[in-house]
Amino acid sequence: MCGIVAYVGKRKASNILIKGLKRLEYRGYDSAGIALINNDINVYKCQGRVSDLESILTEEDIHGFVGMGHTRWATHGEPTDINAHPHESMNGDFIIIHNGIIENYSKLKIGLENEGYSFKSETDTEVLANLIEYVFLSHINDDIPFSAEEAVRQALLMVEGAYGLVVIAKSEKDKLIAARKGSPLVIGIGKEEYFIASDATPIIEYTNSVIYLNDGDIAIITKNSLNLTNLKNVSQKPDIKTIDLKLDEIEKGGFEHYMLKEIYEQPKAIKDTCRGRLSFEAKALKLGGLHDVFEELKSAKRILIIACGTSWHAGLVGEYLLEEFTRIPTEVEYASEFRYRNPVINKGDIVIAISQSGETADTLAAIQLAKSAGALVLGVCNVVGSSIPRETVAGVYTHAGPEIGVASTKAFTAQVTVLTMMAMAIGYANKGLTKKEYEDLIDELYLIPEKIEKILEKADFVEKIADLIKDANNALYLGRGYLFPVALEGALKLKEISYIHAEGYPAAEMKHGPIALIDDKMPVIVLATKDHSYDKIVSNIQEVKARKGLIIAVVTEGDTTIKNMADYVIEVPHSDFALAPLLTVIPLQLLSYYTAVKRGCNVDQPRNLAKSVTVE
Ligand code: AGP
Ligand code: GLU
Repeated sequence: MCGIVAYVGKRKASNILIKGLKRLEYRGYDSAGIALINNDINVYKCQGRVSDLESILTEEDIHGFVGMGHTRWATHGEPTDINAHPHESMNGDFIIIHNGIIENYSKLKIGLENEGYSFKSETDTEVLANLIEYVFLSHINDDIPFSAEEAVRQALLMVEGAYGLVVIAKSEKDKLIAARKGSPLVIGIGKEEYFIASDATPIIEYTNSVIYLNDGDIAIITKNSLNLTNLKNVSQKPDIKTIDLKLDEIEKGGFEHYMLKEIYEQPKAIKDTCRGRLSFEAKALKLGGLHDVFEELKSAKRILIIACGTSWHAGLVGEYLLEEFTRIPTEVEYASEFRYRNPVINKGDIVIAISQSGETADTLAAIQLAKSAGALVLGVCNVVGSSIPRETVAGVYTHAGPEIGVASTKAFTAQVTVLTMMAMAIGYANKGLTKKEYEDLIDELYLIPEKIEKILEKADFVEKIADLIKDANNALYLGRGYLFPVALEGALKLKEISYIHAEGYPAAEMKHGPIALIDDKMPVIVLATKDHSYDKIVSNIQEVKARKGLIIAVVTEGDTTIKNMADYVIEVPHSDFALAPLLTVIPLQLLSYYTAVKRGCNVDQPRNLAKSVTVE
């Protein structure tokens, strides 16, 4: 995936492009580049960050009221200056920036080489630039003028794969041509100016009137006009939305990193996710987004959850919640496995796709498979207007607000909150929950945000524990029942931002192998809040202690048993065990954050990662 931004209008394009790319850098940061249109098309690009790009721009370069910018997450070709976007076609007739993968680029490249085309880069994107030029030049002598956008349309009809792209033609330098299939693009509508970007963050300081392009759309934009068609040149009616994203929501708000800000935003994220859905006073729960499909949900014979990464961990909590509250058989699958293993999907199965970004390629592909098999596919997403909500028949948004840090935190707890509410609503409707159980859970869920606030007050203590593990090479996370997925999530957080190898395990599984790893250098983080299997987890802790492991336990406030056994305990308020994931994950997020900071890692943009993996 990558960040795309483009502008046509009355302002100096370079300022808008550079600022916009910085807001999008969380989407990928292998290289950056811009093209500015004044008399000519001037391209500036380099490996590295947007700040590296800024350092190669000089005052006389940056004129022009039309331009485009790209911050890359490489899929085809190393992160180098040459492979950086924008890419020019061989004869310089077109220039392109692209998010996605041209899956048939090799075949297209061979065909173009046979037509005399040569290539400078290793990217699939340059193939598309040359293909568009090839189509355009093939019609150069037609009686009827052949437009640049028609060349783009015809080229894209030959393309397999995913793209969000912007093209400028040398012959029509005042025009931006944008097209989307599988990778997001948003158009911002200003007064005598238009903005294009991968998401709304670079746009909202200029306008809150936007159009989310759909797959197959192609938009032809000048400073005074926007023409939306499909690839067959059939006009499409723009669906103009007003977004209420605020600029400060995407700034750091005084925190050192986005990730820390987002950890602290979790009480608000959960409140906002419950807002208008959970009524403490009326002891009622209403998920409007599921209204039209609730009868099918209530009587479902099987539920499948598909997701990746942290969203998959939320799905695992969802499995436990749905089976306990609704008694409907529920399975969780990695979307990337689901889409290729020829799974059994029955007509009428409920499939829940969970995704923060709503753009994860594997999850999108798994959705298509489930839909083709006749399943009823729902979405749980954090980005309004993203692809997954548009590909699913119904769903529930997590209102966590923009999550900029690559390591997902508030989106996870918001996802678990939505899944908890779904399980409660379905369970109460199909008698899996009694009225009292249902109302008690409503009361408990309502109290979660303030309980998280209490845990966040212990951040300094958690920071001290990070000093103990920051030089470890490995770590083991253990949990049982609802807390097993939290152990997996805690391990992923530590891995992805501090680069310490960590594994999450069901606590009972430790003796089937991982116990061999335990020695006095191995930190073992145990999630051990009070529930029916508490005594068992105490035994697991004793097994670790007998082998001199460093034990860090997350326990229920007032627990003295484990306090006397572990090296360190982090106490969390009591809650119904089903809601314990929302509380016990907080110390693990903080622990991974402080460990990464102490190791000098780039917390918000960890190496090799991107915020949303919109390519396979
Ligand atoms: C989580 O911290 C990671 N950044 C990653 O595992 C992420 O959860 C995964 O790529 C899925 O992303 P999505 O929720 O946007 O689909
Ligand atoms: N596939 C293109 C490349 O590797 C675009 C990658 C991206 O989405 O950043 O350059």
